[in-house]
Amino acid sequence: MDLADLTRELEELQAQALLAVDEAADAAALDAIELDVLGKKGRLTGVLRGIGSLPPEDRPRVGAVANAVRGAIDSALAERGAALRSSELRTRLVREAVDVTTPGRPIRRGTLHPINETIAEIAAIFGQFGFVVYEGPEIEDDVRNFQMLNIPPDHPARDLWDTLYVDVEGHLLRTHTSPGQIRVMHQEQPPIRALLPGRCFRYEAIDASHASEFFQVEGLMVDEGTTMADLKGLLDQFAKAMYGADKRTRFRPGYYPFTEPSVAFDVECVVCGGSGCPACSRSGWMTILGAGMVHPVVLQYGGLDPERYQGFAFGMGVERIANLRHSVGDLRLYMENDLRFLGQFR
Ligand code: DAH
Repeated sequence: MDLADLTRELEELQAQALLAVDEAADAAALDAIELDVLGKKGRLTGVLRGIGSLPPEDRPRVGAVANAVRGAIDSALAERGAALRSSELRTRLVREAVDVTTPGRPIRRGTLHPINETIAEIAAIFGQFGFVVYEGPEIEDDVRNFQMLNIPPDHPARDLWDTLYVDVEGHLLRTHTSPGQIRVMHQEQPPIRALLPGRCFRYEAIDASHASEFFQVEGLMVDEGTTMADLKGLLDQFAKAMYGADKRTRFRPGYYPFTEPSVAFDVECVVCGGSGCPACSRSGWMTILGAGMVHPVVLQYGGLDPERYQGFAFGMGVERIANLRHSVGDLRLYMENDLRFLGQFR
């Protein structure tokens, strides 16, 4: 092997290495080339082993060529490495790009349940007359749900309320919000103006117009000199605020054990305006609540002297009122928590 052979081998090695560097696809490939060509046991070292067979005066020249080859490959590796890094960065930037002009996904806004919304509306109207909201428990005792409302055990009027009992002696799921009247009378002194919204329960076969869970709003006013005229004026104002100032109202005789006299309160049919339609059974009127003057016995059970105080009370079904506000025809919809239904009320 002479000087020319060694020089040619070195140049060939350089040419091959530069080609490989050029074709390297990533940093790992460059590392492999570096190890293979320039490493301690690499091909450059291998070629330089032949240097021993050269005359001493030629050796520095081979050394110079070898250094130039090493330098050329080194700088090719560095250059290619930098190019690969910047193109990798570019691809990543493109791949991970965020388009800040893309419209966001809309967040669904929650809404009040139509029953709660209706209760809020009822409370707002009576609130203007000074009525304050109270709440009683859903599990009530027989004494407050019935006996203190002038409905003793075995009284035939119990048939008006098909009762769900709980496993605790003397307790039941309240069949109406009226026991709240007793609780408020025990808690407050007259003048009392209380509104009691809440969930009630009855043993019912469920269909579009019967539910075993439903809501009522109870009203109670007790003061000195409270009369039936106060009740009539208040309820008339309520109906006009709820259904329109032009709506006619009427009172009919009714029966409840806890009021005397008792009335049913009707509003001109909000669907047909009074001419008669299926919604009002062709009567032109819709009954929206029961009411009356609080029975003296109930005032007594409430700890109040009926010689001094008089009161009136009323109770309305919230679903019935919500049905009319929103033209809903099936009570079951209120309990199913189907967002396709609930989302329609804003
Ligand atoms: N509690 C009665 C019911 O569930 C409704 C009612 C009627 C409440 C007359 C009253 C009232 O306060 O005076 O059917």
